[in-house]
Amino acid sequence: MPTDAKRPLQLNDQGQLRHFLSLDGLPRELLTEILDTADSFLEVGARAVKKVPLLRGKTVCNVFFENSTRTRTTFELAAKRLSADVITLNVSTSSTSKGETLTDTLRNLEAMAADMFVVRHSDSGAAHFIAEYVSPNVAVVNGGDGRHGHPTQGMLDMLTIRRHKGDFTKLSVAIVGDILHSRVARSNMIALKTLGCPDIRVVAPRTLLPTGLEQEYGVRVFTDADEGLKDVDVVIMLRLQRERMQGGLLPSEGEFFKLYGLTEKRLKLARPDAIVMHPGPINRGVEIESAVADGSQSVILNQVTYGIAIRMAVLSMAMSGQTAQRQIEQQEDAE
Ligand code: NCD
Repeated sequence: MPTDAKRPLQLNDQGQLRHFLSLDGLPRELLTEILDTADSFLEVGARAVKKVPLLRGKTVCNVFFENSTRTRTTFELAAKRLSADVITLNVSTSSTSKGETLTDTLRNLEAMAADMFVVRHSDSGAAHFIAEYVSPNVAVVNGGDGRHGHPTQGMLDMLTIRRHKGDFTKLSVAIVGDILHSRVARSNMIALKTLGCPDIRVVAPRTLLPTGLEQEYGVRVFTDADEGLKDVDVVIMLRLQRERMQGGLLPSEGEFFKLYGLTEKRLKLARPDAIVMHPGPINRGVEIESAVADGSQSVILNQVTYGIAIRMAVLSMAMSGQTAQRQIEQQEDAE
């Protein structure tokens, strides 16, 4: 789908969030507003009473067609901390075709008067499909669609980088591992580019690299990990997405670890104050050494905490965009 086609679907006439489907085409100011809003919600998470009434009386429905632990639970917590009523459905994709499953499930959920759907699906474009289908007062948030995108993960990664490293325009960031199958890599490349990061590197074996990345995302591609990690400020490691691989894209996990795994020795090539990130779930000894995952440069667990704040920001912003949209519609109806 061309970028321009996504804008009207995601944003209302005032440029506010209406749905949150993809980082593609979203302006820097909006990404910064999400980060600033999340910063203020981090403070709520540190209070004894971790709640604000922003979504009181609203119903948020998490619909997960694909497994998830971190994303599902942090979306749930985010909605609860905003005082929404939350239900979570783990829907099996089974053998039913995509259109039928989604449409049937949605009809049922709409009958429960949900105000927001958070959707994870193994098919790229599923959240867009749903956003086009739902009634005008329902907001849709993408919790990860196939290989396409994972915009809240992208934004929580940006919050992590901003809180630990500051100004994006002065940073070198390396994204390492299974780029081909990673929706996280895509969302991160778009977010980093939009936020003005001048040196975005992707590091992977040729078999796990999609073609045309340089042109599409303005990144530098490295097949040699030692070269790619040299002097970077941020290392984002990715999991090998075995479930999305067909056939022999890799010789073996052992070989992958030898060439691309983040060991203490390899991390020394980055800047001494570099941070290490990973969206989880981590596979120790496959893409990352335990000593690094648990080491002083790792911010992997901070990412999880920041994920709640980012999801609170996105849910509340999409809902206030909705409210504005609703007011306009009501005004128009009255005229
Ligand atoms: C990622 C995902 O599901 O896309 N994980 C996550 O959201 N925490 C990355 C992965 O599964 O490797």
